[in-house]
Amino acid sequence: MKKGRLKSAGPFALILAAGKGTRMKSEAPKVLHPLCGKPLVRHVLEKLAPLGVVKTFVVVGHDAQSVKEALRGHDVEFVHQKRQRGTGHAVMAAEARLRSLSGSLLVLYGDTPLIRSSTLEQLLEARRREDADLVFLTATYQDPQGYGRIIRTRAGQVVDIVEEKEATARQKTLREVNPGFYCFKVSSLLEGLEDLSCDNAAGEYYVTDLPRILRRRKKKVIALPAASSAETRGINTREELAEVESRMRLDIARSWMRKGVTILNPPTVYIDAGASIGPDTVIYPGVLIEGNTHIGSHCTIGSFSHLQEAVLEDGVLIDHCSVVRESRVGKGTHIGPFAHLRRNSVIASGARIGSFVEIKNSRVGDHTKAAHLAYLGDAEIGRDVNIGAGTITCNFDGLRKNKTVIEDGAFIGSDSQLIAPVTVRKGAYVAAGSTITEEVPPESLAIARSRQVTKKRWTRKHRKPQ
Ligand code: UD1
Ligand code: CA
Repeated sequence: MKKGRLKSAGPFALILAAGKGTRMKSEAPKVLHPLCGKPLVRHVLEKLAPLGVVKTFVVVGHDAQSVKEALRGHDVEFVHQKRQRGTGHAVMAAEARLRSLSGSLLVLYGDTPLIRSSTLEQLLEARRREDADLVFLTATYQDPQGYGRIIRTRAGQVVDIVEEKEATARQKTLREVNPGFYCFKVSSLLEGLEDLSCDNAAGEYYVTDLPRILRRRKKKVIALPAASSAETRGINTREELAEVESRMRLDIARSWMRKGVTILNPPTVYIDAGASIGPDTVIYPGVLIEGNTHIGSHCTIGSFSHLQEAVLEDGVLIDHCSVVRESRVGKGTHIGPFAHLRRNSVIASGARIGSFVEIKNSRVGDHTKAAHLAYLGDAEIGRDVNIGAGTITCNFDGLRKNKTVIEDGAFIGSDSQLIAPVTVRKGAYVAAGSTITEEVPPESLAIARSRQVTKKRWTRKHRKPQ
């Protein structure tokens, strides 16, 4: 950005995210509470993407470090507000940066995640069209409690925003509120800030004093009623968060249904905002799909399964009560019921991972089967391998995690322990009940168990007479 004569013309955005969020009763800053798997402030930030915003500033203060981390990878500039003395004070914290800008500046709160990009576009457009000094949204709520009220003259001219704390009993009956979406002409905002004071009930600097201040300075202030009030709601408490969450979850489910996904009982299904699902996939009740999980087409996700940062290729069946975390499942593979894929596992195509099988940090090749009761950790398993019930890779020696390699076409008999590091070569057999400590060469049979001793007619001698 050039300093001096040439001012960058925007549009710009300023997101206020320095507050603690006292009403959340939380150690975490309010703007970091997740809504459908994404921190509130990121919802706001991502709405700016289609608007051609040149630069976005984020005001941080309370636990600034965590807020910055949550926005890592986003192209934003952070502004520090050392003490949190109100929303006007947060804007003042950015004053020095704003001096090199001109044109439009959106000022938004970090706790209003439902706003649509198209509504913000209208705000920008109205300011440009009217060459206004300030355009801000208004909304009408059935229950306006907690929000700043819009004060208009008899003729309908907006003159002020009165905070709930300052409002008279009569003003409190007004249902037109300030939902907190502003678009300023930068130079007018800077002028307005000169007159901002903290002479009010809370002893804070209110950004909401600016409409009155600018009007007094004969500036053009416009209030724009929002087309839909629902998208303007802010989140101040955990109850509000839960209400908004359930509404947004249902919206997400509906949008996937419109794209061809069958969801048997939408209110019970949780799909995060970052997930994607292919057409003709069927999702049973009680399923959780978290983070950036990607599900292909023609998959089935059984009841009460939990997918987190998972990638499922087409035609995968996740049978009920299975968990897949940070792992990938290939085409047509069948997982579960009651299977557990832990981080960094890759299961190839046409494989079968059955009930009570746990897999961690392992590769499993095409058409390999581990149909029941096994633990496979830190393992490299080839294609067409059969893992018998009760197989355990003993990967941990108390100090290190060691690797087990099972090559293509090998057969591991039931109830075998493979003591890592160890390798079972191509096409080799491990007899059931073996404890394998040494490499098994290709196409050989390893039996590592004690021989059976059979004592004939033993019970006749030892059983007490009835
Ligand atoms: C604010 C408005 C109110 C409006 C409501 C809409 C003011 C004074 N009031 O009230 O008119 O109806 O939003 O949702 O603006 N923040 C900072 N620094 C601070 C204080 C707050 O960065 O010193 C940030 C917070 O992190 C938050 C945002 O500003 O993201 C709004 O603050 P909040 O305390 O939630 O304002 P409300 O009381 O909801
Ligand atoms: Ca708020």
